[in-house]
Amino acid sequence: MHRIKYAPYKDKVQSAEKASLLIKNHHILGVSGFTKAGDSKAVLPKVAERALHEELKVTVLSGASLGYDTDANLAKNGALQKRMPFQADATLRKSINNHEVLYVDQHLGQTADMLQKIDSFKIDVAIIEAVSITEDGYIVPTTSVGNSPIFVEKADKVIIEVNTSFPESLAGIHDIKLLKKQPHREIIPILNSDTRIGDSFIKVNPEKVAAIVYTEIPDSPAVISAPDEKTEAISKHILSFLEKEVDEGRLTESLLPLQAGIGKTANAILSGFTNSRFKNLTMYSEVLQDSTFDLIDSGKLLFASASSITVTQSCSDKIFNDFEKYKSKLLLRPQNISNAAEVISRLGVIGINTAIEFDIYGNVNSTHITGTKMMNGIGGSGDFARNGYLSIFACPSMSKEGRISHIVPMVSHTDHTEHDVDVLVTEQGLADIRGLAPVERARVIIKNCVHPDYREQLLQYFEEAYQLGGHTPHILKNAFSWHEEFKAHGTMKMETFANTTV
Ligand code: COA
Repeated sequence: MHRIKYAPYKDKVQSAEKASLLIKNHHILGVSGFTKAGDSKAVLPKVAERALHEELKVTVLSGASLGYDTDANLAKNGALQKRMPFQADATLRKSINNHEVLYVDQHLGQTADMLQKIDSFKIDVAIIEAVSITEDGYIVPTTSVGNSPIFVEKADKVIIEVNTSFPESLAGIHDIKLLKKQPHREIIPILNSDTRIGDSFIKVNPEKVAAIVYTEIPDSPAVISAPDEKTEAISKHILSFLEKEVDEGRLTESLLPLQAGIGKTANAILSGFTNSRFKNLTMYSEVLQDSTFDLIDSGKLLFASASSITVTQSCSDKIFNDFEKYKSKLLLRPQNISNAAEVISRLGVIGINTAIEFDIYGNVNSTHITGTKMMNGIGGSGDFARNGYLSIFACPSMSKEGRISHIVPMVSHTDHTEHDVDVLVTEQGLADIRGLAPVERARVIIKNCVHPDYREQLLQYFEEAYQLGGHTPHILKNAFSWHEEFKAHGTMKMETFANTTV
C-alpha cells in the first residue's frame, strides 16, 4: 500500500475483475501502453475475458501496441469494435483484415490532437498503469507515457493499475505536459533531447479515479532477432553515409539526435554505432530498444528521450537491477511531444525507419502488404520522416527466398511520399536521393538498392516508362504487375519481362 501516497484512494483498491465491471458495452477506452511497455496487464485482459460470456464490444485507444496477448484476446473474443492508433499483433491483424475489427491507423503524434479537436470523441474509461501515486493523487507512469495524459484528461472515469514489478525509482524519468488545444497551442520549449518542460506525473482529478488495482506482472519482453548479415550490411551503409556527411562538414561526430524505429533492422542499425567513430550521441525518439542501453553502456550515447522503453528480458534485468545508472540519461514524454513536428524539426532529428517496400521514385509503403493487408501501422515513422533533418528508410532488398523484391515500380500503398524521403538503404547499398529529380532518383535507387536478381527487370520497367515521357514516368497498366504476379504465382520474378510496354 505504500506506493499509494494519497490516503483517500486506499478505499478504492479492488480486484481487477471488479474494476473491469466499470467497463460497459460500447464504451470507448483510453489505455496506457506503447510498444508493449507500460500497458494494462490486469483490467484490460479481464475485459477480454468478460466478452466470452456477455455482449461486450469496446473501442480501444492506446499509445501504440499492447503487450502479452491482450490485443489478440480482445480480438479473438469479439471484444473489439474499433482499435487505434497502432497495433502489432498477428491475431488482431487478421481480424482487421477480415473486417471483424475496425482500425484507424494514425500518426502516433496526432492522436492527442484528434481527441482535443473532436470534443464529442469522449473517453468513457481510462486504464493507466502506474509505478506509484503521489501525495496529491497523481499518477506516476511506468515504462511508457504514450497518450495517457490526454486519456486521463478526457476520461469520465480512471482506473489505475499500480504495478509493483517495477522499481519505485522509475519515478522521476517522466516529463509530462498537456498541450493546449489548437489554435491556442503554446511553443514546446524543448531545445535539446534532455530539456525538461513538465511534471514527473500525470495530473488527475481524484474524483474521477474509480478504482485502483494492484499487479505485479512485468512488461512482456521484446523479442528481437540478433543482427544478421543483411541488417549488419544495412547498418554499415548508413554509418558510411553519416561518416561522409561528417567528412564533408554537414554534421559533426555527435551527429544530431537519432530516432530509430522498431524491430531487428532498427536495433541492428543503432547497435552499429557502438563501434563507430561517432561520439556524444543523443536520441530524440519514440521507443528505446536494447541498443539504446548498449550505447549508453559503451559511453557513446549521452541522453535518450522517448515515449517508452521496450526491451528484451535480459536488457530489462540489466537496467532495472541498476536503474540509478541509467536514470539521469533518460526521459519519457507523452507521444504528442516525443513525436511533435515542432521539436523534431527544431532539433533536426535523424529519423531511421523501416519500409515494407519502396519504389523507384522514393515513395515508401510502411503498412500494407501487397497494397491491401494491414501489417502494423504507420507508427511514428511519418512524424519523423516529414519533420526531421534526415529521413532514412531501410529494408532488405528482397525476402521470402527472393520471391519478393522490396523495391517495386510503384508502391502498392503510400505512407511516405517521395517528398519526405532523403535516403533509402538495403543490404545492397544506399541511395541518397536528396535534390534529385524523379528520373535521377530512379537510376540511383535501381543501381544501389535493388537485388541483382531484380535489377534488370526493374531497369527495363523504368527505361520503357521513360520512353513514354512524363516527369515521373510510369506504365500505369504495369505499375502493379509485380504485386499481381506475386499474388498469382507466388513470386515477383517475371518469366519474361520483355515487351512490357503498351
Ligand atoms: N511483401 C510481402 N511481405 C512483406 C513485405 C512485402 N513487401 N515486406 C515485409 N513483409 C513481411 C516479411 O516477409 C515478414 O513476414 P514474416 O513475418 O512472415 O517473415 C513481415 O512482413 C515483417 O517483415 P520483417 O522483414 O521481419 O521486418 P521488420 O520486423 O523489420 O518490420 C515493418 C518491418 C515495416 C513491418 C515494421 O518496421 C513496421 O511496422 N513499421 C511501421 C511502423 C514504424 O515504422 N514505426 C516507427 C517507429 S516505432
